[in-house]
Amino acid sequence: MSAPTPPARLGFGMNQRSPQSTIERTEQDNGQDNGQHPAGAESLLPSDAVVDLAALRGELGIDQVLTDVEQELVGLRQVKARLAELAALLVVDRVRERFGVRTQRPNLHMCFTGSPGTGKTTVAMRMAVLLNRLGYLRRGHLVSVTRDDLVGQYVGHTAPKTREVIKRAMGGLLFIDEAYYLYRVDNERDYGQESIEILLQVMENHRDDLVVVLAGYADRMDTFFRSNPGMASRIAHHIDFPDYSVDELTRIGDMMAAELGYAFAEETRVVFQDYLRLRRAQPRFANARSVRNAIERMRLRQAARLLEQKTVDYTDLRTLLPVDLQGSRVFQADVDDSGDRD
Ligand SMILES: Nc1ncnc2c1ncn2[C@@H]1O[C@H](COP(=O)(O)OP(=O)(O)O)[C@@H](O)[C@H]1O
Ligand SMILES: [Mg+2]
Repeated sequence: MSAPTPPARLGFGMNQRSPQSTIERTEQDNGQDNGQHPAGAESLLPSDAVVDLAALRGELGIDQVLTDVEQELVGLRQVKARLAELAALLVVDRVRERFGVRTQRPNLHMCFTGSPGTGKTTVAMRMAVLLNRLGYLRRGHLVSVTRDDLVGQYVGHTAPKTREVIKRAMGGLLFIDEAYYLYRVDNERDYGQESIEILLQVMENHRDDLVVVLAGYADRMDTFFRSNPGMASRIAHHIDFPDYSVDELTRIGDMMAAELGYAFAEETRVVFQDYLRLRRAQPRFANARSVRNAIERMRLRQAARLLEQKTVDYTDLRTLLPVDLQGSRVFQADVDDSGDRD
């Protein structure tokens, strides 16, 4: 018997791109727009070929995205697991395709439910990068919109607005925040319905070139789906983003401070936890976003405090002390209900 022929090639021959480091990038291309679906561009593998999956994942930069998410996002255990699961499915799908096992392109429209500041937009950006690297999105950028970007005020304005947004999002991921505001129960003639209908068509007919993610509170999204079964039936993946625990919020705070070149003094961390427990019970708490706001306020108070000193050193400049937080309105007994309180 002759020796088995070596595999034709390890991966799909796509160039590895430098890892996506910032998460704030939105409307930029993450990859090259080669104008074609990578799978269609390559010849089939012989049925005795062997594909090295680990090499392929490395080559496509999939592991890099998953590792970044693991390291840069605190908590979100379930969300990370779902992301890894989906990545596995899509990698295997690509390989099956290369062997000529005909698979329909999976439906990738998703719904992300959770309170504000739980990481939905951040994960959507990572998802877009992942889908780009796997060849499911040719650009892999994220366009984030709300009702106002899609729906006009006057007759005839909605369709062009919605189409313009869709045009911008083509090849990437369209993230519709608080998607349920598109539908007004009390008003049958609301222009939102027109936008929904255009979106439904595009979600069906341009599945190859656009992934739609609907985001918002779980209960309102449920109501929205009940009134819009067409939309519900087009969403294949539901991912829930739970509120963060005080411990997770503290670690997020540590991480955000470090990114900005600050560190909590040990006593500050204790006060920060007290702060979080109080803040969580107050209106307009927004999880990790409230943590980011709190740190911004702490920087302001720290700067004001340092200016009172005659001299500063490196440690002074980097350190956030308990007093930098204790000035917050969150610690005042009778805060009124208006405005920012972080
Ligand atoms: N798990 C996390 N670890 C670190 N930072 C996070 C995490 N979740 C959210 N953030 C940060 O909190 C802010 C709000 O997150 P975002 O994704 O916009 O939330 P949402 O879209 O759910 O409102 C962003 O600055 C983001 O970087
Ligand atoms: Mg958001």
